[in-house]
Formats: sequence, structure tokens, C-alpha cells
Amino acid sequence: MDTELTQQPAGDPTAKTWSQRFESALHPAIARFNASIGFDIELIEYDITGSQAHAKMLARTGIISPEDGEQLVAGLEQIRQEYRQGQFQPGIDAEDVHFAVERRLTEIVGDVGKKLHTARSRNDQVGTDTRLYLRDRIDQIRSQLREFQTVLIDIAEVNVETLIPGYTHLQRAQPVSLAHHLLAYFEMLQRDYERLGEIQKRVNISPLGCGALAGTTFPIDRHYAAKELHFDGVYGNSLDGVSDRDFAIEFLCAASLIMVHLSRLSEEMILWASQEFGFITLKDSCATGSSIMPQKKNPDVPELVRGKAGRVFGHLQAMLVLMKGLPLAYNKDLQEDKEALFDSVKTVKACLEAMTILIREGLEFKTDRLREAVSEDFSNATDVADYLAARGVPFREAYNLVGKVVKTCLAGGKLLKDLTLEEWKALHPSFEVDIYEAIAPQRVVAARNSYGGTGFDQVNQALQTAKSRLALS
Ligand code: ARG
Repeated sequence: MDTELTQQPAGDPTAKTWSQRFESALHPAIARFNASIGFDIELIEYDITGSQAHAKMLARTGIISPEDGEQLVAGLEQIRQEYRQGQFQPGIDAEDVHFAVERRLTEIVGDVGKKLHTARSRNDQVGTDTRLYLRDRIDQIRSQLREFQTVLIDIAEVNVETLIPGYTHLQRAQPVSLAHHLLAYFEMLQRDYERLGEIQKRVNISPLGCGALAGTTFPIDRHYAAKELHFDGVYGNSLDGVSDRDFAIEFLCAASLIMVHLSRLSEEMILWASQEFGFITLKDSCATGSSIMPQKKNPDVPELVRGKAGRVFGHLQAMLVLMKGLPLAYNKDLQEDKEALFDSVKTVKACLEAMTILIREGLEFKTDRLREAVSEDFSNATDVADYLAARGVPFREAYNLVGKVVKTCLAGGKLLKDLTLEEWKALHPSFEVDIYEAIAPQRVVAARNSYGGTGFDQVNQALQTAKSRLALS
């Protein structure tokens, strides 16, 4: 089914594409339905590179002559240049990128071009192209992650002692260092970076030479071709090689997690930019206005990122469903993997770029408002309980007592810092004048010096660790 191209008039979508077995041409609507050239053109450079390695392998093993091999490689290189210069734009009559390249090659080098597909099928070919494409994109996404992490570190570094309310249940819980908050995202992105590196190992295995499904009768050298393409290894089972898309699903899982992280950060930016929080202002370069409400400045960037997360999750779901019922080996269903993959790659890259710009230069922290926020609530209540516990009162007892104090304060419209020393002493004789210092926000944060906590010493340590991780890669 997948051999022997016949010459066909360019531009005629009903022209016969397959062997002499076929009597009549495809119905034009079916030709359009079947064609993937509209999207798999994205793979063209990888298709060319893959074919060049295949041609070299054919020559090296004596399956074709060295001269034929050289002509094929040079002809393919010409197609690459034509494509880059916008001169090669195949239409749907080519069906897919693989046929398009092979047909153009035959136009350029003549009948020798028809030898390229010896000992190969489009099934192992498309698998090779997709892996080469993804390998490159993973490298690009990993360097984008690194850039984003660098921006987070830069901002964290100058905000170790900037305090921000910390939340659980979106209720003010305990104040934290702004740097600590930002470094939480550094950690998420670090896992994303490492995860992609681990997936890369399974992306970088060559299916080339698995043929249509069962291998080939020619004495090919799969390891040579794989090495030419910088693959780390070859698939050991041809049926698995042509039909495996685990690597794509793994990538979509990793891409989905990146989007989860970006979307959580987006949600915080949206909240923080609201008048209710007022922790940041968005700069004009990264915000838009309303067409009707002149006072508005909208956080479109984080909203779009939050929204686009859904697309990537959808592609992951689509790919899982695509695969779950497929009998071995290749089935045309697999053509559907590409748009899911391409769109996810584009979405993740675009979101990373936009969020990096937003965080680097698109917003400003309102430090006055933050200072106010951490000193006008009861987020130091745990510290009062800790104060008593450190002086021998069992923690649970101290906790109950402070609960009562908070209740009284609330009723009287006061904060803990407003209580007089007499009032403190009346609550418990262990309170001394140093209670005021113990509940001051800066002190409250500094004191959480347990490993991984928000204490300034810990945050400074974490910053150093983060920087050395970046330096390592
Ligand atoms: N365009 C096809 C795809 O994306 C290429 C492989 C076609 N193979 C076949 N046996 N029809 O999967």
C-alpha cells in the first residue's frame, strides 16, 4: 500500500497516488479528507533530515550506489532551501508532507528520486519526523522554562524581605516573604524542566527501519541511520516502533502540568491585580482597556493563559482516547496525533513567552499596600500561641486561649497589636512586653526558619540553591 509512487500531474487533487492496483482516482472530497499536508508541513525540515539519513544509510549498506545516495541528499537539501525561501508550497494534491517531498525530489533529481523510499514506509518515516520535531521543541521549551526561572529569581532576590499575606482556603493565614512565594513557582518550573528532560530520553528513540510494520527484506543498518539523526537508540520491536505514541502522550502530560503551573500563577496575578487585593498594578504594556468602561485595565495576559490551559488538557485527553482502541500496528487514526501535538507545543511556547514578559516587566508590586495588608489582620495569631507554647503552655491550650483573644478583639474592633500589656497579662501571666515584638509581621516571618520555610535565612538559602541549579544546566 505504501510503496511505488506513480508520476502524477502536480496540482490535480484527484490524481492517483498509489500503485497500479488502483483503477480510479480518489473522490476530491475524500482526497481533501485524507490529506494531512495542511498541518504536517510543519514537519518538512525533519522529513528532509530524516530522509537524508535514510539515503546515506542506503548508500552505505550498498542498497543503492554512493552516487545515487549523494544525489538524493543534495536534492533533499535543495528542497529545504526552496521551502525556506517560500518557493516550495505543496498543495493537497500531495496528500502529505512525505509524498510532497518525495515527488519534488523526483522532479529535481529524476528517476533516482524514486529510490529514496526503498526499505522504508511512511509509517516509520512519520514516526521519525515527529520524534525529531518534538525533540527540538522540547529543547526550546526547556530553555524558555530556564528563562522564566531566571526572571523569578531576579524578582525574588530584591524581595526577600517584602512581605505578602499567605493564604490557605484563600483566607489570610500567615504572612510570607514575597520571594518565598515566587520561589514556589521556581520549584514547579524546575520539575517541569526535569520532567521534560526525562521524557526526552524516550522521545529520542528511532523507529526508522521498522518499515510498514514488520521490518524490511533489505540489509539496512538502523543503528547507523539513528546515529546520523542523533537518536539515543532504536526501537527493538517493529510493530511497537511504528505505532507507539507514548512519547507524545508523555509530552502532553508534561505540557499539561506546565499549563497547570502557569494557570495557577495567572490566577494569582488576576486576583492580585483586582481592587480587592490591590497587590500589583499592571503596566500599560501588558494590560488592555475596556471598550465601554473607561476606568478599566484588564489582566488579559494571565486570563488568556488560564484559558489556554484547557486546550492543552483537551489535546492530552484526545490523544489518550485516540490510542486506547488501536490494534497493532499503524492505523490512519495516528494521523490525528499531529494537530494535538503541534497546537500544544505552540500554546505552551506562547504562554511561556507571554508570562515571562508579564512577570519581568509587566507588573509592579504595590509595596505600601502589601505592608498594610500584613499588619492589619490576625495572621500573627499562631505566633501568639507559639509564644505561650515556648514558655511551657501546652500548644492546644495556648491555641484555645488565643482563639478567645481573637474573638474579643474582633468584637472590640481591635487587632492583637492593640492590646495593652495589662490586657495580655490578664489573659495569661506568661505574656511579657516582648510579645509586641513577637507578633510584628517582619519577626513573624523571620521566625519561621525551619528548613523550606519562609524565614529570611531559609529564603536566602533557597535563592542560592535555585541559582546553582540554573548554573548547572
Ligand atoms: N500522513 C500519515 C500520518 O500522518 C503518514 C503515514 C501514512 N501511512 C499510511 N500507511 N497511510 O500518519
